[in-house]
Amino acid sequence: MFYSLLKPAIFQLDPEQAHDLAIRGLEKTGQCRISRAAVAAVYGCEDSRLAQTLWGLRFPNPLGMAAGFDKNARTIPALAALGFGFIEIGTVTPRPQQGNPRPRIFRLSADQAIINRMGFPNDGADAVAVRLACLGKAGVPLGINLGKNKDTPLEDAAQDYIAAFEKLFPYGDYCVINVSSPNTPGLRLLQGVDALGGLMAHIQAANQRLAAQHQRVPMPCLLKIAPDLAAEDLEAIGGLALVSGAGIDGLIATNTTLSREGLISNVNEMGGLSGMPLRNRSTQVIRALYRVVGKRVPIIGVGGISNGHDAYEKLRAGASLVQAYTAFIYQGPAMVRSIKTQLLELLRRDGFNSVGETVGVDT
Ligand SMILES: Cc1cc2nc3c(=O)[nH]c(=O)nc-3n(C[C@H](O)[C@H](O)[C@H](O)COP(=O)(O)O)c2cc1C
Repeated sequence: MFYSLLKPAIFQLDPEQAHDLAIRGLEKTGQCRISRAAVAAVYGCEDSRLAQTLWGLRFPNPLGMAAGFDKNARTIPALAALGFGFIEIGTVTPRPQQGNPRPRIFRLSADQAIINRMGFPNDGADAVAVRLACLGKAGVPLGINLGKNKDTPLEDAAQDYIAAFEKLFPYGDYCVINVSSPNTPGLRLLQGVDALGGLMAHIQAANQRLAAQHQRVPMPCLLKIAPDLAAEDLEAIGGLALVSGAGIDGLIATNTTLSREGLISNVNEMGGLSGMPLRNRSTQVIRALYRVVGKRVPIIGVGGISNGHDAYEKLRAGASLVQAYTAFIYQGPAMVRSIKTQLLELLRRDGFNSVGETVGVDT
């Protein structure tokens, strides 16, 4: 209700200004225990049927905030209070970088979509590590999404992922190797299985070394892929994930798309498209991956989720967890509770006792 009143004014602003304002508001909200409690009281909706344990981590519900919303780890307490079951920060690169020139985010309201060509603007791994060290535990699993700096040659990409991983290892519950942003030149080439095999092996070795150093178990390493991959590439990536020791503990499907199929809006901007037009394609990718990996490699489904039905469809296609970003911009904080409430209704309707039972039933 509050967001619907504010939304016309927010949508008058440049999208990135509006985003910065939202981040500042959420950061302030998260800093005060009373405002966090108030937010949790208004938006909370917990139910043990939504909870699952994956990679040894307890997820209170399957809906996470996708990467890119909070690149610099400023809003974790507020997002947890809003009821997200997990939060993924980043993409964080080893060194800070500015990203592409503005404007670089475009709303496509008629399509409930966004095009972005941010290019990983972020404060860098050192600054994000300092922020995370001050925050303490999030209360829900925290994912750390890692990328390479734009000016690092592709052949040195592994060094970049590892440099950022080393700095952020003490603070995350899982990490994500992002090889699928369309806005860092050449990055998607790392999705070829030969490049990927080498990259993940290096990261896995670093993971083992860091685990020993910090006296904890290695961190689950997930791979985030693009929706624009061909069927044979998806099969190959799924196959690689099944190889024990390949270092892929989970898959995130998908990042934004380069496709412009089916758009109503007449926006001719470069970048990755997210939101409603991506929904079916990302579900197809989840289904293709699930056919190869089944439940042996958990999948996080993301792309165009805007209600409980969309989330349910991705779970039934094979995702164990889901994430959303674009719909949060269009719907505001009420989206979180409404997706969870609708999911509970759908579980009841179809006779499931828990969200975990629905994973992959349609595939
Ligand atoms: C403005 C914007 C910035 C994004 N930045 C990142 C990023 O830094 N790293 C990443 O892995 N994904 C990033 N994404 C992709 C999202 O995490 C997600 O995969 C994609 O938007 C599809 O989900 P959605 O349709 O719910 O938005 C970004 C998306 C948007 C809209």
